[in-house]
Amino acid sequence: MLYIGIDLGTSAVKLLLMNSEGEILKIVSKEYPLYFPNPGWSEQKPEDWYTQSMAGIKELLDGQDKSQVAGISFGGQMHGLVILDKDDNVIRPAILWNDGRTTEETNYLNTSIGREKLSQYTANIAFTGFTAPKILWVKKNEPENFAKIAKIMLPKDYLAYMLTGVHCTDVSDASGMLLFDVKNRKWSKEMCDICGVDETQLAAIYESYEKVGTVKQSVADELGIPASTIVAAGAGDNAAAAVGTGTVGDGACNVSLGTSGTVFISSKSFGVDKYNALHSFDHADGTYHLMGCMLSAASCNKWWMDEIIGTKEYASEQAPITDDKLGNNHVYFLPYLMGERSPHNDPNARGTFIGMTMDNTRADMTQAVLEGVAFALRDSIEVARALGVAPERTKICGGGAKSPLWQKIIANVLNMKVDILEVEEGPSLGGAMLAAVAAGEFKTVEDVAAKVVKIKKTVEPDAEMTARYEKQYQVFKELYPACKPLYEKIAKN
Ligand code: XUL
Repeated sequence: MLYIGIDLGTSAVKLLLMNSEGEILKIVSKEYPLYFPNPGWSEQKPEDWYTQSMAGIKELLDGQDKSQVAGISFGGQMHGLVILDKDDNVIRPAILWNDGRTTEETNYLNTSIGREKLSQYTANIAFTGFTAPKILWVKKNEPENFAKIAKIMLPKDYLAYMLTGVHCTDVSDASGMLLFDVKNRKWSKEMCDICGVDETQLAAIYESYEKVGTVKQSVADELGIPASTIVAAGAGDNAAAAVGTGTVGDGACNVSLGTSGTVFISSKSFGVDKYNALHSFDHADGTYHLMGCMLSAASCNKWWMDEIIGTKEYASEQAPITDDKLGNNHVYFLPYLMGERSPHNDPNARGTFIGMTMDNTRADMTQAVLEGVAFALRDSIEVARALGVAPERTKICGGGAKSPLWQKIIANVLNMKVDILEVEEGPSLGGAMLAAVAAGEFKTVEDVAAKVVKIKKTVEPDAEMTARYEKQYQVFKELYPACKPLYEKIAKN
């Protein structure tokens, strides 16, 4: 049997074909535009996601035995607001996870409703990228659009809806809406009332590995796959990546270095960090997780390479950064190019270089970018450590995880063993694995992970390098509080 995993990302949709043995037969990627209509805003067209996903599936299945396709599922960019009218038309472009327009609504939720109540209803507080503040933003700023809303959905759920006609979501992705009672895995009546949302506008809830339906006949005909092909609910991209990297069960950790950067720690029991600096969400394997999310990770390096120094030669730019340089750089970079989520929750934060001298080279700046992202991930790890959650090792996935230099920097800045996987296609592989569970090929998510995920090698932290980075991290920690008042002034200008 064949399973399709769809990773609906921010820059592209990645599609992966897996067989019953967990072998990957093919991977295809299709891009679509990202719009920044105002500074700090970030939007995409759901129609582009669907068109490119369908084109991608066709390319993926080209030359394969399509009659063997048994299941499709997803890992999707989280938190995005997709709204449909009563005739299923998309009302406005989706407002994405890294959109920072909702400062006012986020403040209202965190102060007027209050963090304590939010945390009690949903296990989380409001962040600008979460879905509920976006709904309040549309209500206030686009009342004519708000009045038209018949269905509210998350990005990957739009694909599921187009494929099956079922308005569904899964627990991991729903957790990031701030409308969801994470502990009890159901919509929060209180939050719906606060946001002026009726539960009939929201999706039916599934576990990530559950079947929501089969593909519509028209979809089966267009793709040439059986009409019996099941669609599983899938997961938010980080939970799907955790499945794809075998970060399941209790106390396992995954670092994702994609457009965003996340630290994901799985947990069999429900828990909330008392400062709500980490998100407390449901996991795709039926359990829970804690997650820290930085808004710009591999995208900082992409910005630095593509836009600033103007090169695509990432590996040769990193070649001069030898071991003796690691932990000895006096240039620091604060990676807040889209503001920051975890742990600062500050949409006004900005990217910042500091510490340069005349002798600095562009390699030092490149190094600072990679290190700045690692230090910012460490901020989330420190919150977890303060909670007594201290994983000794982590998996790593996402575009940035391909760089051996970045792997080493992360191992030493976090002081954790970093397990490098044979396949680091986190969310798309996780999506295919969830589809295989839903189709009955595997009993549980843990079973499929045990079969499919293989560690290639482990990057061990080095005692001396770790000590050097420890000193530097202590400096890095002081930079954001020092810059914060300036970021506020810059934002007001
Ligand atoms: C997680 C988050 C990002 C997006 C990226 O909370 O906002 O990781 O899911 O696609």
